[in-house]
Amino acid sequence: MAESQPENTVLSPPRFLKSEYPENVLVGTVFEIQRLLDEKRGISNSRKYNDGQYNQECKLWPENNLPRYMWDFDDNVERKWCVQWLQNLIKFGTNQMCECSCQDPDDPAGADDCGNRWTWESLVDQAVVVLSELCGKGASGAVSRGLRFWSIEDGQENVKAVAFDVTIHEPSFIEADVGCQTWGSSILFSNRIARGEINLSKHHHVLELGSGTGLCGLVTGMVAKKRNWKNLKLTMTDYLPSLLSSINKSLSVNNINKMGSTNVSGPTIDLKLLDWFKVHEKSKESERGEEALEKDRVDDISPPVSNYLDVNVSTDFETNGRDDGPKRSFSELDIPAHKGKYSTIIAADVLYEIQHAMVIPQIINYFLFNDTKDKPDHDQSQAIVVAPLRPTHMKEIDIFEHEMQKVGLRIKYKVTTTIKQDFDCWLGCLPAETGYKIKNSVQINDFDDTVEYNFWVWVRRS
Ligand SMILES: C[S@@+](CC[C@H](N)C(=O)[O-])C[C@H]1O[C@@H](n2cnc3c(N)ncnc32)[C@H](O)[C@@H]1O
Repeated sequence: MAESQPENTVLSPPRFLKSEYPENVLVGTVFEIQRLLDEKRGISNSRKYNDGQYNQECKLWPENNLPRYMWDFDDNVERKWCVQWLQNLIKFGTNQMCECSCQDPDDPAGADDCGNRWTWESLVDQAVVVLSELCGKGASGAVSRGLRFWSIEDGQENVKAVAFDVTIHEPSFIEADVGCQTWGSSILFSNRIARGEINLSKHHHVLELGSGTGLCGLVTGMVAKKRNWKNLKLTMTDYLPSLLSSINKSLSVNNINKMGSTNVSGPTIDLKLLDWFKVHEKSKESERGEEALEKDRVDDISPPVSNYLDVNVSTDFETNGRDDGPKRSFSELDIPAHKGKYSTIIAADVLYEIQHAMVIPQIINYFLFNDTKDKPDHDQSQAIVVAPLRPTHMKEIDIFEHEMQKVGLRIKYKVTTTIKQDFDCWLGCLPAETGYKIKNSVQINDFDDTVEYNFWVWVRRS
């Protein structure tokens, strides 16, 4: 059990005995599990209350002072024990619900024990939510994650590092397949743009491919606001409506401008459905209409079967499950109308199938603005791509580099790094005192640092 025990703790997990009727200790203990899981995702209770998400995610009362058992999730035995305890709680709570005469706790004319029925129902619901999260991201429902980024501000006397936090909504695996989690590539990209290492002040039209939970675009939007890149128009895309819906929530939680709004001076963010294989079809069509040069010739590529299995790609999508927010459907990006329209394309972790590695270069080539003459470095149209170097997926990386060159792009910048190496390298360049302060402040971004990433900036060969 955890060493320091705050007030109101009980020394062992409450048992399920009817005679003891330990309802408030059970509620407190489930609340504590939820709090611990939130903390691991970088969400503190105060942030949660402030951004009004509490009631969406935790059905129990937002009281922190109920008696409870403090689980120690760093201890594997306790973690397993907790899973068992929750299973027993679900069984016990369900029996309690069945014993109530009240059938519908929301019925105002219901039986006297409707209050009890509501408590047991809420407790069982919440136990199911935390149990599924304990079983890993694949089983977990939708959750929020808190991530911290650092930006540099030049003070009058010296440089100052300023932290800013982003809350990101992640849908469940069932809703969004691999897009349900925020991947390391997007953390690496976001760290770099937040720190001022990617300058988009001259890039007005930016397209993100495979946005997923949308971290890259969200941080780009926040940085654009901070740095006054007011002409920036960012289009975030994915082929899954559930992900656009999720990004939409994160935009509002982080107070980023309402998507697609006009009459707003400042950066704008739009969300569009875009399936890479539809762009591939269009590239082939436009090739047929033109005398294609050797470098523009497009080979036939079929989407991987996994792309359309078990996911809802319908455009009249409405979120299901525990989503009480406004429902909306998303329109598709008009592909031909945007040919050659973007001066920056961002793509994080989109090379996990051979077909993706082959098709992404075509898409970049299709949408990237065609610089006609040599431009200063920071003005050149560019594609910023980040990909993990998974030992099982090295072939995809080779194919991607080869195909990018084939369509006429060249590497302007490339680095291979882990997230931590990249962060430490940045800290090392800061004035000693600033770097020391950051190192000693809480670093809440939780990442696996055994993975290396390639970070490329590609430009057109002149
Ligand atoms: C591994 S995730 C990366 C998500 C996000 N960029 C990140 O780094 O956290 C890959 C993303 O590509 C999207 N994707 C996969 N196939 C796609 C396709 N054919 N067209 C468009 N997006 C696709 C998935 O829905 C998912 O959001």
